[in-house]
Amino acid sequence: MAEKKDDIVLSIRGMSKSFGRNRVLDHINLDVKRGTVMGLMGENGAGKSTMMKCLFGTYQKDEGNIFLDGKEVSFSGPKDALENGIAMVHQELNQCLERNVVDNLFLGRYLRNSMGMVDEGRMKREASELFRKLGMTVNLDQPMRKMSVSQRQMCEIAKAISYNAKVIVLDEPTSSLTVQEVDKLFEMMRMLREQGISLIYISHKMDEIFEICDEISVLRDGNLVMTKSTSETNMNELITAMVGRVLENRFPPVDNTPKDVILSVQHLSTKYEPHLQDISFDVREGEIFGLYGLVGAGRTELLETIFGVRTRAAGRVYLNGQLMNFSCAKEAMDYGFALITEERKAALQE
Ligand SMILES: Nc1ncnc2c1ncn2[C@@H]1O[C@H](COP(=O)(O)OP(=O)(O)OP(=O)(O)O)[C@@H](O)[C@H]1O
Ligand SMILES: [Mg+2]
Repeated sequence: MAEKKDDIVLSIRGMSKSFGRNRVLDHINLDVKRGTVMGLMGENGAGKSTMMKCLFGTYQKDEGNIFLDGKEVSFSGPKDALENGIAMVHQELNQCLERNVVDNLFLGRYLRNSMGMVDEGRMKREASELFRKLGMTVNLDQPMRKMSVSQRQMCEIAKAISYNAKVIVLDEPTSSLTVQEVDKLFEMMRMLREQGISLIYISHKMDEIFEICDEISVLRDGNLVMTKSTSETNMNELITAMVGRVLENRFPPVDNTPKDVILSVQHLSTKYEPHLQDISFDVREGEIFGLYGLVGAGRTELLETIFGVRTRAAGRVYLNGQLMNFSCAKEAMDYGFALITEERKAALQE
């Protein structure tokens, strides 16, 4: 353990970056130890993604040095970084969805036989050996688009491993995973850690940060304000570090008085999977109505059904007492409904 403690695989020294007059990173120092998980937290706009982009060479840093295994490095882009042992798993995965797992794994470095032809057989064998080692069952022939976000993420991790990654950065990887998928991801992360791989884990989720990270760093307004071992800090200290002041009133009293019922959902059920059954609730004017449930519980489906993009089997939606059973999004929008989807880039499927 003692030797692990001082064994720093990645060291960022004095990294600064400005966009125009906006100084987004101000002399950042960060050390990541071998075989550990470093959590990176900070409010929106604190500079987390910018720091990673400067590390990968996506952005040109203004100042600073990066050392990997004690040697100074400067990457020209994510591919260069990947080939040198630092990989990134983005929240919005950049994969060729029409191509299969093997193609995605070997993209840009197809294996060739002695005749110079692409050796599909060898690529497939190597891919299946890789997934076997990682304890994953994946259908290598299916196009990526048929796989869940979780499986596609696992493929990205597998790709990183195939490049002998020493450090893997995960930028908010759990936002669209189910509880079981998060467990699986964490299991995989623990296994990689055991093998001496280091992970940088960017997340806004406190419970996950405490569950999986060995150390936690906090960025605030471009400054790295805290790095502590997880066992030596707590949620209050992290929040204070993130916002820069002690938050006394985390849950201020709700003093808003909602008016009459404006939206009424009655006995709503859906026709297709996942089945929603007999859902009823009222929303009042001037009210923020919370809808809680785990990933997969049907929250999105419920909203999409109200919005008219999923097929109702039964039930009614009223706005100010008037029946609104929409059959398409356009109709809903004409009546002043708006739906902000969870995936910013994805279009609604009608
Ligand atoms: N390409 C860019 N040009 C100009 N300003 C930028 C650019 N990229 C980021 N910024 C600014 O840099 C600051 C840090 O942004 P960054 O995306 O790194 O934050 P973050 O910590 O990753 O936030 P989040 O938690 O929302 O992902 C913000 O003020 C942002 O507006
Ligand atoms: Mg970000």
